[in-house]
Amino acid sequence: MPAIPMKDPFDYIIVGATGDLTMRKLLPAFYQRFRAGQIPQGTCIIGVARTTSTTEEYRNRAKEALVEFLPAESQDDKAISDFLKFLEYIPLDAADQEDAHWPELCGLLKNEDRVRVFYLATAPSVYTGAAAGFAEHDLITPKSRIVLEKPIGTDLKSAEAINEGVGQYFPETAIFRIDHYLGKETVQNILALRFANPMIERSWNSSTISHVQITAAETVGVGSRGSYYDTSGALRDMVQNHLLQVLAVVAMEPPVTFSASDLRNEKLKMLRALRPMTEEDVVRDTVRAQYVAGKIGDKSVPGYLEDLGSDTSSTETFLTLRTEIRTPRWAGVPFYLRTGKRLPRKTSEIVIQFRPQPWPIFSEAPPAGRLVIRVQPDEGMSFVFSAKNPDKADFSLREASLDVSFSSEFHTRYPDSYEHLLLDTVRGDQVMFIRRDEVVASWNWIEPILSAWEGDKRPMETYAAGTWGPESSAQLLARDGFVWNEEQPEI
Ligand code: BG6
Repeated sequence: MPAIPMKDPFDYIIVGATGDLTMRKLLPAFYQRFRAGQIPQGTCIIGVARTTSTTEEYRNRAKEALVEFLPAESQDDKAISDFLKFLEYIPLDAADQEDAHWPELCGLLKNEDRVRVFYLATAPSVYTGAAAGFAEHDLITPKSRIVLEKPIGTDLKSAEAINEGVGQYFPETAIFRIDHYLGKETVQNILALRFANPMIERSWNSSTISHVQITAAETVGVGSRGSYYDTSGALRDMVQNHLLQVLAVVAMEPPVTFSASDLRNEKLKMLRALRPMTEEDVVRDTVRAQYVAGKIGDKSVPGYLEDLGSDTSSTETFLTLRTEIRTPRWAGVPFYLRTGKRLPRKTSEIVIQFRPQPWPIFSEAPPAGRLVIRVQPDEGMSFVFSAKNPDKADFSLREASLDVSFSSEFHTRYPDSYEHLLLDTVRGDQVMFIRRDEVVASWNWIEPILSAWEGDKRPMETYAAGTWGPESSAQLLARDGFVWNEEQPEI
């Protein structure tokens, strides 16, 4: 990530400052940017949470988190202790306008000329109340922004209630709805791949591409987040936001400029062009399942119900779905989305599968090539194509692969997605954040799936932890004559 210097100190208020997201992601991301020289002296990062604690205690807790979550090679005692001096802590319930600690927050926020960012790393139920609290205490200045973590609601109605509620106090240009997948280098790199390489962009359509696979697989289970996850499930947790955003970036038309409004207009068009699902479509084109005990590598892991501490749950921890985009570019090209917990390995990837050679010149049909974009880990790309097999005397073919791993190519540490996004909020750059109408379009498309599932009386499918989901996930592709990338023969 290039070190664009940030000149002026700013005030960054993190609400939910003792939570998992702040400790695991936000503070390490700020620390990395501090080491890169991007946090000017005089900046103030103010942690706000309901827990009673002093700034000193908070700094100690933050230090433990940095040591736990930063990679060893990034840890530097002097840098950590210098970074901790930026932190302040105020015990405050931001949704309670009568809380006695508001004056302390106001006291720290004296300079109205500075950029001021309110980051809500809390449950969405707090968003409107906290925004009202900032307004009530005159904390919203012309240079203020508010950052909202996903999920924005649990359905269209609740998402719109949040948009309306927060929108009473902040204009849309000051609302940053964060989706950390848009902060991932390789997701951003899809824009470069497509729009800086005309050769690729000219092939990026239904005449060359037979289908697209988007997978976000995790080995972890629900861990301590069971109470949240069980009310959400994979569709709300991963598809409504991350996977649909990745799909929009893969499928969008070129924006007129790289401005936030042009780019988001194009993503919105894709979300609106998704073929709406009828109840029959949902039965035919979606697979949902829950993990049961199994093995990941050599490690035995419990099933979802055991993780949850419950006898029953109808929440999906895995899903595959097939959709289409109703535009001239994509007509007839299926997009398969898949995500799940407790799968065999952590990987997020996009597979662009090309069409096979249409005319039989060679005695055997050459395998159709594909482009695999590895979002994580080992960010990079592989282009798989047919080559002449040098081991055979006749003109037979085999697959070969051109492979690039970005970290070795560019000799760089790959920044965590939050590093990009936090600084974008300070700079006021909304290009990688989600606009209100995108949230509405995503929920509009997701809701019929949710209601069809609610009415579906078939028992929930299961899959053993450590497998790629139930057999029906592979069958969904097999029906169209395709296989998931991991089932392709090794090259
Ligand atoms: C979060 C989901 O948004 O993304 C989690 O709530 C999920 O359930 C996480 O584990 C995955 O993010 P990443 O960056 O590890 O792929």
